[in-house]
Amino acid sequence: MDVGSVTKKRDIALAELAAAENTAAIEAVRVRYLGRNGLIPALMKDLKNVAPAERPAVGREINAFKKTFTDLLAERTAGQAATRPPATASGRLMFDSSLPGVWRQPGTRHPVNRVIEDVVDIFSNLGFTVADGPDIETEYHNFDALNTPADHPSRDIQDTFWLDDKYLLRTQTSPVQIRVMERQKPPVRVIAPGRCYRRDATDATHSANFHQVEGLYVDDNVSMADLKGDIAYFARRLMGPGVKVRFRPHFFPFTEPSVEYDFSCHRCNGKGCRLCKNSGWIEISGAGMVHPRVFSAVGYDPDTVRGYAFGMGIERIAMIKYGIEDIRLLYENDVRLLEQLIG
Ligand code: DAH
Repeated sequence: MDVGSVTKKRDIALAELAAAENTAAIEAVRVRYLGRNGLIPALMKDLKNVAPAERPAVGREINAFKKTFTDLLAERTAGQAATRPPATASGRLMFDSSLPGVWRQPGTRHPVNRVIEDVVDIFSNLGFTVADGPDIETEYHNFDALNTPADHPSRDIQDTFWLDDKYLLRTQTSPVQIRVMERQKPPVRVIAPGRCYRRDATDATHSANFHQVEGLYVDDNVSMADLKGDIAYFARRLMGPGVKVRFRPHFFPFTEPSVEYDFSCHRCNGKGCRLCKNSGWIEISGAGMVHPRVFSAVGYDPDTVRGYAFGMGIERIAMIKYGIEDIRLLYENDVRLLEQLIG
């Protein structure tokens, strides 16, 4: 061993270290040169066999070798943690399994969207297609064509956001019924999810902006039995196989007869619990047979067509289904709530 051979070995070692492509390769070079059985300790041990006259110079060269190697090693290790794995000659990135991973919060669909998708999915199995209408509606579509009298309280400034004396923010998805029938002859089978607006003060069960889904089925032989059967199918698919449906007489201007429908409580199986306020039933929404005046308004012959319609509040269903007790939680986008609904 002499000074020249140590210098040559140093050059090879530095070149190998510089070429090491990732943390694992750097570590392998380190072990080869600085490890217990590495080259640098071996050179140190071998120093005693060098002629005494040469020994100090060779010793200095080995020390310099160790220092430059250690310095470059520190540089490479620090750089490695901060940079991406380098591209190989082929241009592909090397996968460095020693780097710490990055954890990402998985995304989840919002409960309101989930219920809309579920409702659309279930009714599409019954042959319904999705229809759409504008959020800014005319008084005619939102009220008049739906047989809602001019003095009906829902038209009141307290209930409706009026934009001027003709346009308003729709208070319900029912005007989509009118828009669909205006442009399409029977048979009609549509489901229409969308935003609705009412001048309600916000509290645990009210929001000025909420969602409904409207359903409309018109043909020459549609009956109340179809309505009940379809709603019952929907209830079982949405809430669980044991859920029953009950109709209670009600009034809506655009249906006759009209009903409100309830689902038996899926939580207690109708026995009575906090969710159903011990009644065994949960009120869902309204439905009925399309009023002959609604058919007349869209140019259908009320003597030859029959139809049923229903509407439902999406937030209400989301709250019942996911056990959310305050509607405001649905709009705060607090990840602590949304996280619980992953899956
Ligand atoms: N539009 C009604 C509401 O907002 C809900 C409704 C009731 C829709 C009966 C219907 C229906 O289509 O037939 O309260």
